[in-house]
Amino acid sequence: MHIIIAMDIKEANLVFHDETSRDYDKKWAIRFDDDMAEFVLSKFELGLGGPFPRDVRIMEIGCGTGYAMLNLGKAGVLDEAWGCDISQGMLDVCKDNADALGITVHLQQADAEKLPYEDDSFDLVIGHAVLHHLPDLDRSFREIQRVLKPGGICVVAGEPTVVGHQLARIAKAVASFTLRWYARLGGRLGKKKIVLRKYDASGSPEDHELQELEFMVDIHNFRPRELCAMAKKAGFSKVRFESEELISSFIGWMIRTVEGSVSEDNITDRWRWGAYNTYKRVRNWDKKMYPYMPRGWFYNLIVYLEN
Ligand SMILES: C[S@@+](CC[C@H](N)C(=O)[O-])C[C@H]1O[C@@H](n2cnc3c(N)ncnc32)[C@H](O)[C@@H]1O
Repeated sequence: MHIIIAMDIKEANLVFHDETSRDYDKKWAIRFDDDMAEFVLSKFELGLGGPFPRDVRIMEIGCGTGYAMLNLGKAGVLDEAWGCDISQGMLDVCKDNADALGITVHLQQADAEKLPYEDDSFDLVIGHAVLHHLPDLDRSFREIQRVLKPGGICVVAGEPTVVGHQLARIAKAVASFTLRWYARLGGRLGKKKIVLRKYDASGSPEDHELQELEFMVDIHNFRPRELCAMAKKAGFSKVRFESEELISSFIGWMIRTVEGSVSEDNITDRWRWGAYNTYKRVRNWDKKMYPYMPRGWFYNLIVYLEN
């Protein structure tokens, strides 16, 4: 506990992501297959407003275990790729994933506020679910600009909006409350009696410390226009945003809450298949609603920044 209080945000990010790196893909249901490759490619093409560019030098900030970069590799659009992350643990898993997929990426431990690359090095910088962890966004934006070639583009997807975050909190609370009562009443999941694990008083001290770190590392939710204004102020010439996932994000957070709260024995392949397909179906409804709803209500923000 004392160790956590003494930590700054970056150190907390490093420790939290190092500690959770080996379970990260499982926790977030990350796969590297055709279905997920198409899913990731569609996010970046939505942000880019067109097809993913080819034969370009790409760098990913906060690449983690390779969810974005390696799925883009699997989709066949990654030609020359670099990736950095503050957590060596995440990079080690990324390297294992890349080797298993036969994809070449150059990985380096680095802070997004101090990138270890020359000026004008990349045509495209990408990121996924990383900006909301960065304490000094202005500095990170200026670093991204520095390493981008003139006219280069940065697309970051998967950042939480303020409204999306509130909806996610409601989804988590509803799922948690319902699950607890269902478990108390002797409910079953995966043909077994529900056994609750972390996030309750019986969790181990390590679970509690990780939980505290997790709260600590999520430092921003974004109002899209404010984030765009910040990027513009940092010097990007063109800035715009898109967003995705409204009801599907609500469903997704409920699913994640259940999966993170019960014993592994309760989560069968059938459950995972059903949960993922429900989420995907609802995501398609969200796409149909997108033109008619305020973009700031959707959970996942995608920002497009041009140098
Ligand atoms: C939520 S994870 C996302 C990982 C991956 N992009 C994905 O979508 O699965 C956030 C990642 O950002 C990294 N990170 C946090 N702070 C960072 C910083 N200051 N510089 C570089 N990476 C950072 C973490 O280590 C972690 O791997």
